[in-house]
Amino acid sequence: MLTFNKSVKSLAVIAAVSALALTGCGRAETPAGTSGAAGGFAQDAEIGVALPQKTSENWVLAEGLFNDGLKSAGFKADVQFANGGVSDQQNQISSMVTKGAKVIIVGAIDGAQLGTQLKQAKDAGATVIAYDRLLLNTENVDYYVAYDNYKVGQLQGQALLDGMKGKKDSGPYNIELFAGSPDDANAKVFFDGAMNVLQPKIDDGTLKVVSGQKTFEQAVTQGWKAENAQKRMDTLLAGSYGSAELDGVLSPNDTLARAILTSVKAAGKPIPIVTGQDSEVESVKSIMAGEQYSTINKDTTALVKHAIQMVKDLQAGKTPEINDPKSYNNGVKVVPAYLLVPQIVTKANAAEQYKNDKVLGPLTK
Ligand code: BGC
Repeated sequence: MLTFNKSVKSLAVIAAVSALALTGCGRAETPAGTSGAAGGFAQDAEIGVALPQKTSENWVLAEGLFNDGLKSAGFKADVQFANGGVSDQQNQISSMVTKGAKVIIVGAIDGAQLGTQLKQAKDAGATVIAYDRLLLNTENVDYYVAYDNYKVGQLQGQALLDGMKGKKDSGPYNIELFAGSPDDANAKVFFDGAMNVLQPKIDDGTLKVVSGQKTFEQAVTQGWKAENAQKRMDTLLAGSYGSAELDGVLSPNDTLARAILTSVKAAGKPIPIVTGQDSEVESVKSIMAGEQYSTINKDTTALVKHAIQMVKDLQAGKTPEINDPKSYNNGVKVVPAYLLVPQIVTKANAAEQYKNDKVLGPLTK
């Protein structure tokens, strides 16, 4: 089962990088961990962290955690958001290279648009770590640290099925599908993971996508923007749900889940089962109030901690620990990865999941 999932996941990533993936396949056997762990560097070195836009709470949390964690480990931290878009992020990475950053950690807006800057980074001797989102179509990425994104999608798909079954014992169930932003390499992986669970149920008639919009391209939400998801849900409800009941919506994250719920409420429809991801405060409150059905627990503290551990290992001249050397083909090379395990959260297990979380714990008691 694991092997199957992993190979599907690799295929999903290859598919996401489309044209260049084909030319890259021949070189996919680059040995893991070869390029990143040269000789170590000064303990107070400059470390760059290039974050995308503030499209969800996890990125905002990451900013503070990287600043605090890198500084308390003795490094100089340069943590930047690219609120102005891809060119902003390109300029920020170039400037990190100019400042002599020894490691550059990148949460890409568009993982396929940073090739020139990542080459500059490697030419200057920096190690490049892809954080949360894979960097595509480039040799110039050494490591990937993330939650298992394909698994996130599978958990979302399963939660959608379980939630609907809990309300109505048997189908057919009417559903709609939403995906994230197509420039984010994770979006297709989340969707493919969910469809791995949902497609057989669509094929056997248990699930009906009433709008007929079943492909990733039809389901995407540009820029992960709430207003885009809300508008699409308004259109779907107006066009396909005159008298039909909507039983469930696959939402790739919490921000979009709340936008979908806003649309359904405005249309005066009963609340369907809606999935999510990120454990955002407002969504956890919504889950406890019985509105949003599920989210995913991907603790940002643990992810940032592992990324910083990689920096510490590199500083000491050691090869960072990885636990998945072969699943993440970025179209040009297989990027050695360290994957953390995501957890599904519903009202039933929220208290247990967040028992050590100072913010979410008290909300779920
Ligand atoms: C992250 C998600 C997040 C989304 C939008 C993805 O790449 O993995 O956690 O919801 O970006 O910010």
